Amino acid sequence: MTEAKIIDGKAFSKKVRERVAKQVERLKSYEKLTPGLAVVLVGEDSASQVYVRNKVKKTEECGMKSLEYHRDSDISEQELLTLVYSLNVNPEVNGILVQLPLPKHINPDKVIAAIAPEKDVDGFHVINSGLLATGSEDAMIPCTPLGCLLMLQDHFEGDLTGKRAVVVGRSNIVGKPMNALLLKENCTVTTVHSKTVDIEEECRRADILIAAVGKPQMIKADWVKPGAVVIDVGINRIEAEEGKTRLVGDVDFDAVKEVAGAITPVPGGVGPMTIACLLANTVKAACRQHKVDEPSGD
Ligand code: GUN
Repeated sequence: MTEAKIIDGKAFSKKVRERVAKQVERLKSYEKLTPGLAVVLVGEDSASQVYVRNKVKKTEECGMKSLEYHRDSDISEQELLTLVYSLNVNPEVNGILVQLPLPKHINPDKVIAAIAPEKDVDGFHVINSGLLATGSEDAMIPCTPLGCLLMLQDHFEGDLTGKRAVVVGRSNIVGKPMNALLLKENCTVTTVHSKTVDIEEECRRADILIAAVGKPQMIKADWVKPGAVVIDVGINRIEAEEGKTRLVGDVDFDAVKEVAGAITPVPGGVGPMTIACLLANTVKAACRQHKVDEPSGD
């Protein structure tokens, strides 16, 4: 068995961002429209700060307007809702992202429900998850599952029909929308989770295995069918040598790459694709709000 192809999410995401930048350039010159993304960060969570900084930087790099709202962790739920309502009616804002997790005293479901569905570039609003679940083309699709799908479509040259896909994890952010997207692509989809009986055996049946559980290196080589395509959504920080830490995925990469046909690394796989898809969703949202066709990015 030859070693797996390493799917380079960093290089692929650069191509997606370049395409978005061309679209933005065309919207600016032909429609006098500059898409705007508002990012709301509550509190001082260090991982969230890094993610938000990166989102802001990439938004500006592709020519869009970035609006940043940083609030202290003691902001009340009502104050945060009021901020979201103001962004809903702000014409400069085409996309709204409230970084999760939120402090314990704020109900994330309430905040997500307050976002105007047409500005919900995370695709978390029940209107958008409902549209995706019913196979509608109108859904805003959550960025991480969309990034995974783009990499799979690239690998399989656009056709996933009939593939047996197993999604490990049932979160609203990744697992559930990933299941819906793969089903829409004509895969036979199984979602497995902490209460699944014989999870290894289910995984071994997969032509496409998506790991999105947040458990470092949980997926072992003998869980993977030889030649399967493995997409690792996990980002976990673990102890390394000499008191240092390092990032690993939900997949035991070094062992699984000896068995899989293709695999995404961590870092440099799904992560960069998530941001690229956020930018693509923002352009899509801006075009819909202004009732203009999405320009080509070629
Ligand atoms: N926290 C971790 N991932 C995400 C994401 O995709 N969107 C938001 N809003 N928060 C997150």
